[in-house]
Amino acid sequence: MKKIIVAIDGHSSCGKSTMAKDLAREVGYIYVDTGAMYRAVTLFALRNNLFDAEGRVDAQRLENQMHEAVVSFRLDPATNLPVTFLNGENVEQTIRTLEVSSHVSPVAALPFVREALTRQQQVLGHNRGIVMDGRDIGTVVFPDAELKIFVTASAEVRARRRFDELQAKGMPADYDDILRNVQERDYIDSHRAVAPLRQAPGALVLDNSEMTIPQQREWLMSRFCETVEKLSR
Ligand code: DC
Repeated sequence: MKKIIVAIDGHSSCGKSTMAKDLAREVGYIYVDTGAMYRAVTLFALRNNLFDAEGRVDAQRLENQMHEAVVSFRLDPATNLPVTFLNGENVEQTIRTLEVSSHVSPVAALPFVREALTRQQQVLGHNRGIVMDGRDIGTVVFPDAELKIFVTASAEVRARRRFDELQAKGMPADYDDILRNVQERDYIDSHRAVAPLRQAPGALVLDNSEMTIPQQREWLMSRFCETVEKLSR
């Protein structure tokens, strides 16, 4: 059976990664969370004191040091899911903190960061058989993806989901702070000059505000099967 690329883009915290991971596991594809890559570079910048008190990043210094930020994934044998590493350290939990979430957008807006990570993502998907989620996968990274999905949900629903997720992990969480962060990131992600969040031409839209996780999983699986079937005709 021909292997395809599934590109899943959409707003932050709208359940893209849950859907993407489930599909990848189900069909035996590799899953790549590109947001984790932008988060890991942001963690690198935080650790190297590259932000000022207003949350602005020192782009010149980050560009000079970018080669020292090696982001990679390793498969967790227990879950069979990729875990994010920064310079050989497992940062999967650390990159999900609100501190990283509230600094990531300016880093993700830098052209040299996007170029470096886009290149790495294209290499990861070179042999197809991949489910990749992010903001620009269907528009920039793989405009030729056979299946493109654009996922969205209301900001309040998304903030509630992230709040529940952090609480379940025993991590500190404040709903209002999270909602503000979701709204700010929506604005920055869709208004930045380079690779703004957009629905890719040919993408199927999924508003999952009112959907359960199993319903989303089923919806995505059906779209995947339809696409593969169409290609094998
Ligand atoms: O999906 P996420 O919330 O983990 O993504 C973290 C940030 O990275 C988000 O604010 C937007 C940015 N991002 C991006 O610009 N392009 C991608 N392909 C993935 C994420």
